[in-house]
Amino acid sequence: MDNDLQTVQISEGIYWVGAIDWNLRDFHGYETPKGGSYNTYLIIDEKITLIDTVKAPFFEEMLGRISQIVDPSKIDYIVSNHVEMDHSSSLPAMMEASPKAKLVCSAKGKKGLYEHYREMGFEKWDIQVVKTGDEISIGKKTMQFIEVVMLHWPDSMHTYLKEDRILFSNDAFGQHIATSERFEDQVEGVMEDAQIYYANILMPFGKQVLGYAEKVKQMGLKFDMIVPAHGVIWRKEPERIIESYVKWANAETKPQVLIVYDTMWNSTEIMAKEILEGVQSAGVDVKLRNLRNNDWSKITTELMDASVVAIGSPTLNNGMFFTVAGFLSYIKGLRPKNKKFFVFGSYGWGGGAVKGVEKELIESGFEISEPGLQVNFRPFEEDRAKCREIGKRLASLAKE
Ligand code: FEO
Repeated sequence: MDNDLQTVQISEGIYWVGAIDWNLRDFHGYETPKGGSYNTYLIIDEKITLIDTVKAPFFEEMLGRISQIVDPSKIDYIVSNHVEMDHSSSLPAMMEASPKAKLVCSAKGKKGLYEHYREMGFEKWDIQVVKTGDEISIGKKTMQFIEVVMLHWPDSMHTYLKEDRILFSNDAFGQHIATSERFEDQVEGVMEDAQIYYANILMPFGKQVLGYAEKVKQMGLKFDMIVPAHGVIWRKEPERIIESYVKWANAETKPQVLIVYDTMWNSTEIMAKEILEGVQSAGVDVKLRNLRNNDWSKITTELMDASVVAIGSPTLNNGMFFTVAGFLSYIKGLRPKNKKFFVFGSYGWGGGAVKGVEKELIESGFEISEPGLQVNFRPFEEDRAKCREIGKRLASLAKE
């Protein structure tokens, strides 16, 4: 075991003992160009407690960090705030290393852990199921639990350390970044990374976010730190991240047009650029994103802010281009709100892309605010002029 692994004391008796995934570039399909981390915390009190575990390939690293501070066999409680495997896949090995530990989780967490680990020792685990408001005293410190159903899984739970006013929020309020620093005020641009994370993971759960903010207020919780399981810790006015989540959950948009497209022989790209010219000439902020050379995780974040979205697809084999189909499938699941859509594209014979994209958008519950435009083979000046005119109309829609 590596004895040089660093731990970080984040507060009196509370240590970060997780792992940094410097080379993570894809988190179940969502691009993570800055890497990621799996944060776990060791609390030293009369009862020794571990909050969450790491993704399985990082188990030895976490165990090494824990061992710098305490013999893992002395751990009394392991809290599993969330079943997803980036936080639980080293739980079977951790339960072996801490044979006297009681596992603490929600009722849905217990069911989820059974479904993952019933052939990996689950039956032997001593499990204590907790619900919102339940408390466990570990000595000078008290853990209080808050179920956060569908933030973002049914089993999700937060652990609040009452005396220290520290919230262990697991996935909520996280960011996918790899850094040697552990606090938000030590790193540039964390709020932007938090928004990318929100857009790609939590966007469908705005209603639950608003319910959570209300519940926290009713419970009268105050925070000195909000400590997610991914990225860095919010310690400077930590409520800022809850306020940002409320703003994002309310789906507030800006007067912005986002043009998302793909192209085969540049015809759809020419249309996209003419639409951009039209929007710009009307003095409205506009972004142009080709699906084949931009991170979809970033496009999705820009989609949150935009009030108008133009989607361009050439026709390939009587239908929409495959990247456009993939993107529509991606955003259908994320359910962005308060958007007006417009569809455009080129075709050779038969067509199909524009109608196909419009049908998909309507079936997904999105609003189309401008009839689609398709151009045969190449956009000539008459078509280009139409695109610029449409750009001006989209600019007006964005300002409404
Ligand atoms: Fe970080 Fe839902 O897992």
